[in-house]
Amino acid sequence: MQIISDISGLRAALRTLRAVGGSPLPRSVGFVPTMGALHAGHRSLVLAARQGCNVVVASIFVNPTQFGPNEDFSRYPRTLEQDCQMLEDERVDVVFTPTADAMYPAGASTFVDVEGVSERLDGASRPGHFRGVATVVAKLFHIVQPDFAFFGQKDAAQIAVLRKMVRDLDFPVEMVICPTVREPDGLAMSSRNRYLSAEERRQALSLFRALQAAQTLADHGEHRAAALLKTMRSTLEAEPAVRVDYLAVINPDTLLPLENVAAGGLLAIAAYVGGTRLIDNVLLCSKTSL
Ligand code: PAF
Repeated sequence: MQIISDISGLRAALRTLRAVGGSPLPRSVGFVPTMGALHAGHRSLVLAARQGCNVVVASIFVNPTQFGPNEDFSRYPRTLEQDCQMLEDERVDVVFTPTADAMYPAGASTFVDVEGVSERLDGASRPGHFRGVATVVAKLFHIVQPDFAFFGQKDAAQIAVLRKMVRDLDFPVEMVICPTVREPDGLAMSSRNRYLSAEERRQALSLFRALQAAQTLADHGEHRAAALLKTMRSTLEAEPAVRVDYLAVINPDTLLPLENVAAGGLLAIAAYVGGTRLIDNVLLCSKTSL
């Protein structure tokens, strides 16, 4: 596995890897962008990339532009050595570990704004967050030029923003969305789970519990968003230390609220457990297509 931190070095390595084997057709490149602090959720993305693509590239870059001034950029976990070990174990070909100076050279003033969708859900609570995400992912797509890019369903709003960016700007990349990976007790895997104390870790289970309660209700035929939201809220209220940021029943592509989920929808939660902001969601399938 090659670990490369400069952009021209990465481009050169990929030119060689794409051409290996003497085939007249270039080999497919799968890309897993990450901010490091890798866990089983990231591993599932790498496995999916390894299964479907000839060449697998992962990036590790804690992107400063997607953190707000009072957010956890400086204390975001950085575990490069363990991350590289995991990526090597999963037979990743190249890890790209750029510096902030390489990604944002002095004077850089070009950003990608996916208007509308970027201001909803996490974008409403974290102004500027999705501008930072879209900008860095656009840059990474230009640098890596992947055929397929792998993202986790847990970041549902990020997926909506990036899908729209790919469509609006004609990136020649197919987004592959992999299911949320959970701890055995249901907690969605997240790099931020390591901030939680044992007591907070227990309280955090209420997010998935609330989603499951609403999903069960929907499975039993309750399609009114207001009723699903009420159930989510009352389940979360059983854990008063958990502070809700948003509860939403939305269209997963536009992130706009739905009144009824008979044709499918997304249940989404963001909440603070202690000082840690966690997100989770479940997709409801359309009853008509079953
Ligand atoms: O999902 C993440 O880890 C980040 O938002 C991403 C896509 C790597 C961009 O920094």
